[in-house]
Amino acid sequence: MSFVVTIDGPSAAGKSTTARMLAERLGFRYLDTGAFYRALALAVLERGAGPEDPAAVLAVAQASRIEVSGSPSRAHLTLDGRDVTDAIRTPEVSELASRVAAIPEVRRLLVAWQRQIREAGPLVGEGRDLGTVVFPDAEVKIYLDADLDTRAARRCRELQTRGIAVGVEAVREDLERRDSRDRSREDSPLMAADGALHVDTSGLSMEAQVQAVLRVVQSHPAYEAVRGTA
Ligand code: DC
Repeated sequence: MSFVVTIDGPSAAGKSTTARMLAERLGFRYLDTGAFYRALALAVLERGAGPEDPAAVLAVAQASRIEVSGSPSRAHLTLDGRDVTDAIRTPEVSELASRVAAIPEVRRLLVAWQRQIREAGPLVGEGRDLGTVVFPDAEVKIYLDADLDTRAARRCRELQTRGIAVGVEAVREDLERRDSRDRSREDSPLMAADGALHVDTSGLSMEAQVQAVLRVVQSHPAYEAVRGTA
């Protein structure tokens, strides 16, 4: 089994940037599991299926082809061959993704797809249940968090950069609602895995976040064997 680093945590805690930079520096693959739930949410939206009907959502998932490609800094996601990298980042898709992600049968299917990616070599994966459910035997497990104000300000800036005008109050409410759903669902709730290193990114620069995780990976006994081979 390939060397895996898992990064879990709530929305806008800094997971994506940390995971991408880490993957780039280590020469590992990058796996954004949230993008899978987002792509499914987009498919559900486009086909007019309701998230309140688990069987309909599962049918959409079974009929969809979600694929990842590219490098960590230019990761692309396709839904049935169509590039949806940007289309899955809207607030509407975020909300729906959190709802479809609470359906156990859907999770089972998407987790199976996510595990297949490990077969291709060492990777850095990010999401909510990577250290607890998807890769419980991961070599390094990280739990990233930051206070709500910091996370809301970050997400607001990110959306504005994408040309989506939003107020910080609305973003804050969205984050609170989704995180609370992600934490309280019965199947694979968001939580820190046993033995995970907790990193609070509130006052940390991006470089400091990456360095904190990089040190842990590089000091792992199994790292020597994959160094330079990825
Ligand atoms: O990380 P993100 O915001 O792109 O994730 C979108 C939604 O998908 C989020 O509300 C939680 C859900 N998700 C999940 O349940 N499990 C994962 N491993 C990743 C994301």
